[in-house]
Amino acid sequence: MRKPFMAGNWKMNGTKSTAKEFIDNFSLSAELAEKRQVVICMPFTLLPFWSEYGGEKNPVIEIGAENVYPEPKGAYTGEISVDMLKDTGAAYCIIGHSERREYFSESDEFVNRKMNALLDGGIVPIVCVGETLEEREKGITQQVVGKQIAQSVIASAGEKDLSGIVVAYEPIWAIGTGKTATSEQAEEVCAFIRSELDRCISTAAADSIRILYGGSMKPANVDELMSKPNIDGGLVGGASLNAADFSRIAAFEE
Ligand code: PGA
Repeated sequence: MRKPFMAGNWKMNGTKSTAKEFIDNFSLSAELAEKRQVVICMPFTLLPFWSEYGGEKNPVIEIGAENVYPEPKGAYTGEISVDMLKDTGAAYCIIGHSERREYFSESDEFVNRKMNALLDGGIVPIVCVGETLEEREKGITQQVVGKQIAQSVIASAGEKDLSGIVVAYEPIWAIGTGKTATSEQAEEVCAFIRSELDRCISTAAADSIRILYGGSMKPANVDELMSKPNIDGGLVGGASLNAADFSRIAAFEE
């Protein structure tokens, strides 16, 4: 059984005071907290603060970063390594988000290097993939997502244990637009991703890798999306900034 996984992606939002407010107001029953994994991926600047303040006040929430550089150290001005992330208490890291692919020209090959570095360092990668609206309308969604999965994830199958990674399917046209994929559209692509993991890695890996849906997930649609067999959780942007909304999302009804 795959444990449901709800991750917030705060993007370039949040200061210590808004983080504190969130930590003080997020709540999940002890019973659900046992059964679900709840993570907030946040700007680097908030990780040390959250480890200290949040860890004590709201230990249900685990923390993650939104980016990492694949080299261990050296002359890479402005970048953050896996060891530096570990030092802050981060246990997860988003890689391959469409915003980084688009605005920072990150390739599948680069995403794969980041995944390998995270796995070597013991941080769980959350690898994002997804198609544009144009690609969906052309009918090439599976081709696009299949290539991203092959080059950013499956490329490491021979050398790394991939069974603990998390994959997030995020159709780009649904991110921050209020336009959610229907649960059928989301399920179809998540099932396709799982079949690729099965075919190219192993059935055991495909059974254990959590596949999330991301793109305007919110309290009003989470229950329906989570009812699908291949959707194991969500990567939530806008709605994760509000503690009440994210509490409701984490408490989705089974
Ligand atoms: P959204 O963002 O929930 O605001 O659409 C999701 C994401 O980019 O991870």
